[in-house]
Formats: sequence, C-alpha cells, structure tokens
Amino acid sequence: MKIPQRKDEHIYHTMGSDVTCKTPAGFDDVTLVHSALPEISYADIDTSVELFGKRIDAPLMISALTGGSELTGKINKSLAKLAHAYNVPISVGSQRAMHAESSLRPTYEIRSYAPDVLLFSNVGIAQLITMSDDEVEHMVSSIGADVLAVHLNPLQEALQPEGDTNFSGGIGRLREIKDALSIPVIVKETGAGISYEAASRISFLDGIDVAGVGGTSFAAVEYHRTTDEMRKNIARSFWDWGVPTVASIVECIEVFDTLIASGGVRTGIDIAKSVALGATCAGIAQPFLSAVYKRPHDEARHYVETLIEELRITMFLVGAASINDLRNAPVVVGGTTRDYLFERGFSVEYLARKGDIR
Ligand SMILES: Cc1cc2nc3c(=O)[nH]c(=O)nc-3n(C[C@H](O)[C@H](O)[C@H](O)COP(=O)(O)O)c2cc1C
Repeated sequence: MKIPQRKDEHIYHTMGSDVTCKTPAGFDDVTLVHSALPEISYADIDTSVELFGKRIDAPLMISALTGGSELTGKINKSLAKLAHAYNVPISVGSQRAMHAESSLRPTYEIRSYAPDVLLFSNVGIAQLITMSDDEVEHMVSSIGADVLAVHLNPLQEALQPEGDTNFSGGIGRLREIKDALSIPVIVKETGAGISYEAASRISFLDGIDVAGVGGTSFAAVEYHRTTDEMRKNIARSFWDWGVPTVASIVECIEVFDTLIASGGVRTGIDIAKSVALGATCAGIAQPFLSAVYKRPHDEARHYVETLIEELRITMFLVGAASINDLRNAPVVVGGTTRDYLFERGFSVEYLARKGDIR
C-alpha cells in the first residue's frame, strides 16, 4: 500500500471508529491538593512556560498527527493556524512520506501559517536508522523545524503488515544524530509509553515525550484497518499494551528534566496534573484531529480555550500563579497507578509532600 493512502486510512479509522485504549491513562488516580485559601488573584495567573528556548503561552502542544497526502495537508494547515493563534507548539506527523517522495513536502507545511511557533520535525526510529545525517538535516530544515522528535513505535510497526521491524542499532543512531544536529533531539512513543529502563538508555537526548497508554491505541487503528482475520485478532490482543501515561511520567522524570506528558491527556485538569508530576508540557493528538476534521475553525478554537480555562481554574484552586508554582504543588497518586509504581520500585510519597504544605 502507498504511504499517502495509509495516512488517509489512519485518519478515517481514527475519526470513524473506537480507537481508545480501555486501560486508563491514570489521571483519575492523581489528585491535586485543593487550596481553600489560594492567596493569589485569578487575573494574575500566568500559564506561559519555556520549552526548548521558546516561550509558549500554555504547557500544551499539538502532538504528531499527520502529513503525506492531500487530505492530511489540509489537516496540517488547520492545526498550524490553531498553534499560531494560541502560541502553542505543534509537531508534523512522520515525515517518512516526504523523504520517500519530495513532492509531498507541501503537505507538511506549517511554517507559513505559524511563523513563530515551536515546531517539531518527526520521523520513526526504524526510518532514522536507514537515513544519512544529511538526509535527516534536510528533512528537518525543509520544514523549518526547531526540534527533531524521533518516534519509537515498535508495537505499531509489528502490527502493520508493511511495518519496519528492524530496530537494531537504534540507540547508536540516536546518539549520532544528536551529535550531528544543532537543534534539540527528543524521542516520543506513539501511545504505548516509555519505561524507566528505556529512558535511561537514551538519557543523552534533550527530552522525552512519553505518549503512554490511555488515549489513542494504535493497535486499535491497525485492528480497524486490516481485513485479515488473523491480524485483526492479533491487533485486538495488543489493544491496551504498554505503560500507562501517568506511570510513564513518574518513571521517565527520574531521567529527563524536559518531559512532554501525552497519551490520553484530555482536559486542562490532566494538563495541570501532568505539570505537577514534573512535565514541562502536555501533548494532545486525537482530540485536536477531531476538532479540526470536518468542523468549523471556531470549534477547534473553542476546544483550546476550554483546555486553557480549565488549566487556569485548576491553577487558581491549588494556589499556583505560575507554571513553576504548579510544578511545586503537591499531588497524590493512588489506585492502580500507585500499585504499579510501587511494584516497579518508584515511590510517589515525595509528590504528595512537595512544596509548602498549605
Ligand atoms: C491518526 C494518527 C496519526 C498519528 N501519527 C503519528 C506520527 O506520524 N508520528 C508520531 O510520533 N505519532 C503519531 N501519532 C501518535 C500521537 O502523536 C499520540 O502519541 C497518540 O495518538 C496518543 O495521544 P492521544 O491519546 O492524545 O491521541 C498519531 C496518532 C493518530 C491518532
């Protein structure tokens, strides 16, 4: 199957079918401690934060989604306008298609619609292994990106009949590309999360996007895409495979100071919880796609404004006037997320006791 057709199929199935993990991301197990006496003025709350040297207006990004076909080019244009309107970072989807066919580059066009936003380039590690440094440099610079995100998607590649399943030498290649490029290089999962062990092996990178279990399931997308009964059964078995998002944040924050929390982030409260757990920023994919897909521009703006308003109210209710204050706010982790982390040897008590006990 040609890549543009595959990209369109991902969109159709994500928009038309149930592709949500049944395992929760873990945000319901996280409680921010309410402050009945915030001692700040709501009007003074500042949601801006610095990420990779750029000031962004909220700790929120539009995660990697698409590019590589006419339809996905239109989606990228709408997403770019949204990122520009709210000064939040945005990633293009995997640039594999434009690497294979340079005429597809305009479908990844973000810069002309969002000249100042923090823009992430995106390529899979299986493709990175086969590309030269010059090819990677060209891929990044041709869209004017500020950061390269290399996606780690072993589950997706294993489930796709046309998947690239040779990941050998990936860590060495990440080290080489980090040395070759002058911009920050991070890794990102695609919905199966990243463990402490995996994060530790790539600690030389500039950041990590956990993209854990709890939101969109790529096994589910592949389940809907395939017509082969055996492959359907296999994809169904892996629907919920991986590290849940909150557990992945707690594990990876031990390794990385710059961490993007994603995978099932759905509300401004989830964004606030992510920051209190240590994330610099949270990423959202599928809801942004549905906000721009076939809907008027206003609805997408309404969605972003809702997220930011929920974040601001949460900050008010924990007495945090800035994102730095929010990072210092105590947060209690319970339920199955706590059990999971306890069994893995990660304590969450320090999270509940940090900051000034109010
Ligand atoms: C239609 C679709 C296409 C995606 N394509 C990519 C991609 O090209 N590169 C990538 O790193 N992640 C890709 N992702 C994964 C998302 O960036 C994100 O990690 C995942 O969907 C979990 O976030 P969510 O629960 O907010 O959707 C894609 C997700 C969807 C729904």
